[in-house]
Amino acid sequence: MASYLTALPHMLHGADYNPEQWLDHPEILQKDIELMKLAGINCVSIGIFAWAALEPKEHDYRLDWLSEIIDTLYENGIYSVLATPSGAKPVWMAHKYPEIRRVNAMRVRDLQGGRHNHCYTSPIYRKKVRQINTKLAERFANHPAVLLWHISNEIQGECHCPLCQEAFRQWLKAKYGSLEQLNHAYWTAFWSHTYTDWSQIESPSPAGETNIHGLNLDWKRFCTAQTVDFFANEIAPLKAANPDLPVTANFMGFYDGIDYWKLLPLMDVVSWDSYPSFHNTDNGDESGNAMWNDAYSDICRTMLGKPYLLMENTPSQTNWHGVCRPKQPGFLRLSSIAHLAHGADSIQYFQFRQSRGSCEKFHGAVVSHSGRTDTRTFQEVSGVGKMLASLDALCGARVPSQTAILYDMENHWAVNDAKGPRNDDIGDTDLFFRFYRPFWQAGIPVDVVNADMDFSAYKLLCVPMLYLLRKETAQRLIAYVKQGGTLILTCHTGVVDEHDLCYLGDTPACGLAALAGVRYLETDPLYDWQHQTMRLTKPPFENMAKTYQLNKLCERIAAEDAKVLAVYDNDNPCEPDGMPVLTCRSEGRGQVYYLAAFAEDKFFADFLLPLAQSLAIEKALPADLPYGVCANQRIAADGTAFYFLQNWTRTPQTIMLPFPLQDVESGRCYQNKLPLPPYGAIIAKPQ
Ligand code: GAL
Repeated sequence: MASYLTALPHMLHGADYNPEQWLDHPEILQKDIELMKLAGINCVSIGIFAWAALEPKEHDYRLDWLSEIIDTLYENGIYSVLATPSGAKPVWMAHKYPEIRRVNAMRVRDLQGGRHNHCYTSPIYRKKVRQINTKLAERFANHPAVLLWHISNEIQGECHCPLCQEAFRQWLKAKYGSLEQLNHAYWTAFWSHTYTDWSQIESPSPAGETNIHGLNLDWKRFCTAQTVDFFANEIAPLKAANPDLPVTANFMGFYDGIDYWKLLPLMDVVSWDSYPSFHNTDNGDESGNAMWNDAYSDICRTMLGKPYLLMENTPSQTNWHGVCRPKQPGFLRLSSIAHLAHGADSIQYFQFRQSRGSCEKFHGAVVSHSGRTDTRTFQEVSGVGKMLASLDALCGARVPSQTAILYDMENHWAVNDAKGPRNDDIGDTDLFFRFYRPFWQAGIPVDVVNADMDFSAYKLLCVPMLYLLRKETAQRLIAYVKQGGTLILTCHTGVVDEHDLCYLGDTPACGLAALAGVRYLETDPLYDWQHQTMRLTKPPFENMAKTYQLNKLCERIAAEDAKVLAVYDNDNPCEPDGMPVLTCRSEGRGQVYYLAAFAEDKFFADFLLPLAQSLAIEKALPADLPYGVCANQRIAADGTAFYFLQNWTRTPQTIMLPFPLQDVESGRCYQNKLPLPPYGAIIAKPQ
């Protein structure tokens, strides 16, 4: 695959651009080019919602306007990320072909409106998409201005129409072969829900079936599979016209409606739309927002094992947060540097020019309604453009990581649908972040893998709450430890199989109980305001506290073949005392820890950081970082190390440097100390 970098070997700086809203204002379109150049924009994402302008009447294709704009942009040094328009169907189409409109879980068909709401199964919509994509591909797939295909927009959602129901049944038939197998996998003898004919199977609905967990899980898998199939239909004409032009789809941070990982075999580049809720605390501590954002960036970088694109972020404010605070001075630069630090090869905005009407008219844009260039936003965007222009050497640079945390979508679905032991948020994502936080704070790079990825490259693998465990994953975890890996398992692991059926016998299942040397006994979930206590009996590392608080989910286990490092230490006589909470066992060349409860954040820092040190896991920058200060590293193709230093607090901070660094923008050198102003950030190289 040719890289988009072949055409444009620079960091991308761009924005969603919607000229279709301004076709009757040629002076504005002309002005846009001038403004883009001033802001240092070198690419635009174009055509995303332009179907009505591209095909105003059925089969009446009007691509000339788009062609002219793409050409003019190109003549001015601005490339295009060309979108397929399927994210918003035209009104005429929705009225002429009602079947393309989605049906919700209550079996009510949408009226025309909104976007991202077409049926993925409808043969008519698939045909229409193929036709328009063919036209776009014929015209633009070999156009030198086009860097990349942007498939649809924020692919999401599900449809419960009769076509989808039938496709679901066919998908189930192919998967299970017989109703007997399906009934067994779904445990339908429970409540007399046994199916006696395929036609009786319906998608989950609040008005009908929600109790068969295997069905719920399969429905999500089917929606994912149908989306992947729709995606394949979208890209077929594009790839036929030019197999080398890469495709991407813009993901939404931690969106869990479909399993994005399943789209990866069809994608050349991962991109995502990043909208953290900055400025929502009273103490100015932005580290929570930054950490959330960085974690999703790490997921996107890990997905294909290479840099991702930041496809959208707001240059100022959104229009859909509860309170839409604009990024305060300096925040655009700071958050852009954080993206570059975690593996982004672009900074792109939603949107270039602010719409005049409809529901996004108050969303921030590079160019606001005033059309002026002396706005703070325009100036800050131009500043980012200038910075990116000095970073050609960073294109494609990797983020080396020796640690991984597992976050798996099917597991997330299953554990959150489990009905017990804790229905007020079982906390799988919370536990993920308890692992992520100390690494993030200490500047230890982390990859985020799912259950299907290769674990062998990591020295340390943290597996929080892998409730849904496939035999095959368990075997790879066992092999990983035997070959020398350090694995951390936690409470609520290895409970159900891929059908969401509980494993019989000892758990964690599929050999993980034997691997960890522990056996599950019972779970004690706590209310949010409750806690229990763990006491370290054999502290694995010096400087750990004697006790730590436990909350949310406290599991009781028997340590049959493992060293007990910490035990429950509860005052309440009816709660367990002396039972294991943290254990360790060696197997082959590796070791496995089992943590039986949610521990407070301090435990994770006190335990994970010395563990990482004992495994010689490298920090991005070998320095102690003050609270809220991040340090990241990327290594360019020529071996140059880039360092990204960010201060997410409102106080000035100083980093004590292990070696001298030079600011890549200003050229300024720092020998021993690097001061960062409040919310300041710099990119540096060793001097
Ligand atoms: C994104 C979407 C854009 C725009 C933006 C506003 O989710 O892809 O089209 O609506 O939100 O923040």
